Amino acid sequence: MTIFSENINSDLQQCISKINADNIYLLTDSTTKNDCLPLLTSIEAIKNAHNITINSGDDNKNLTSLASVWEFLSKNHASRKSLLINLGGGMITDLGGFAASTFKRGIRYINIPTTLLAAIDAATGGKTGINFCGLKNEIGVINPAEYVIINVDFFRTLDQENLLSGYAEMMKHALISNKEHWRNILHFDLEAFRLECLKPLLKDSLHVKEAIVAKDPKEENIRKALNFGHTFGHAFESLSHKQGKPALHGYAVAWGILCELYLSHIKLNLPKDILSVYRQILKEHYGFYTINCKDYEPIFELMTHDKKNESSKINFTLLSNIGEIKINQSATKEEIFETLDFYREVAP
Ligand SMILES: NC(=O)c1ccc[n+]([C@@H]2O[C@H](COP(=O)([O-])OP(=O)(O)OC[C@H]3O[C@@H](n4cnc5c(N)ncnc54)[C@H](O)[C@@H]3O)[C@@H](O)[C@H]2O)c1
Ligand SMILES: [Zn+2]
Repeated sequence: MTIFSENINSDLQQCISKINADNIYLLTDSTTKNDCLPLLTSIEAIKNAHNITINSGDDNKNLTSLASVWEFLSKNHASRKSLLINLGGGMITDLGGFAASTFKRGIRYINIPTTLLAAIDAATGGKTGINFCGLKNEIGVINPAEYVIINVDFFRTLDQENLLSGYAEMMKHALISNKEHWRNILHFDLEAFRLECLKPLLKDSLHVKEAIVAKDPKEENIRKALNFGHTFGHAFESLSHKQGKPALHGYAVAWGILCELYLSHIKLNLPKDILSVYRQILKEHYGFYTINCKDYEPIFELMTHDKKNESSKINFTLLSNIGEIKINQSATKEEIFETLDFYREVAP
């Protein structure tokens, strides 16, 4: 259940009371421990919780950090009736969600997303996991949080890059929903990034995700729509990590969306003006990840590991127009390389 909270302390208190756990464990990363935990000041249960802190950064969404959480839970007497609260961005909600889902075959957990990206995407929908062998989210399970409590006050300490990273997923939700939603997204002032103005957009955007997840929680069908931009996006993200210039998830998705809008254009006649408007947003606000011809094969190779593939084809979700979703679209290696040519032409 997702709660849009105006008062994080009273809402969290209520959720904790409903869960009635024997012990509470609170997972933060080194940043959210300092920036976010102080906002949960007045809850007795939080003051008495066992705190677990892991290093921040997506490189730490790995087996070593996961094992340290399991070990902490085990050594500090967590039982099947315990509760884990994940206070952080997508790294924490993914890893903490997976730790909770697997510890003693599953304990309950609450996500309190502290980044826009986690609020709009990672913390909801139940996908949890870690990176493994250089591949994003290679190991994981789908198991939703008892509660996801969203409060924009946490975002006040986020830098502009992390705000934009989250906004990329909001652009994705708008592109897969309808033209009015997309127009609203285009009108938001990305320079000023006023959180009060963001709230209604955030709610609309999350409803897009929740409505899709409710129809197809196991991603057998329409949930694949949420992967729009992510086949290229995850490949860019993994490549950036391999090349030692790690890109934020939302930035990688933003570049991935550009590529998949282009694929949509050549394969399904998506109108070109959508592509031009979108490209302009990237140019003005996000910039581009630089790739060269030598990166094409590694990008293709990374795509072959994508969880969305069935058999040996590379599977995409594409759009024939805004809100007109076509899942299970495969593309050839030639089409993928042509898309990368396009990306390199428009990326200055
Ligand atoms: N499970 C899903 O469905 C899903 C969906 C999208 C993304 N993800 C995953 O989410 C992760 C990306 O999420 P993210 O961008 O939130 O990453 P993140 O958790 O690494 O957070 C980004 C940075 O912001 C810091 N931070 C967090 N909250 C802060 C705050 N309030 N103020 C200041 N700094 C803060 C973090 O310490 C980190 O340095 C990736 O691992 C991605 O794979 C999962
Ligand atoms: Zn994403």
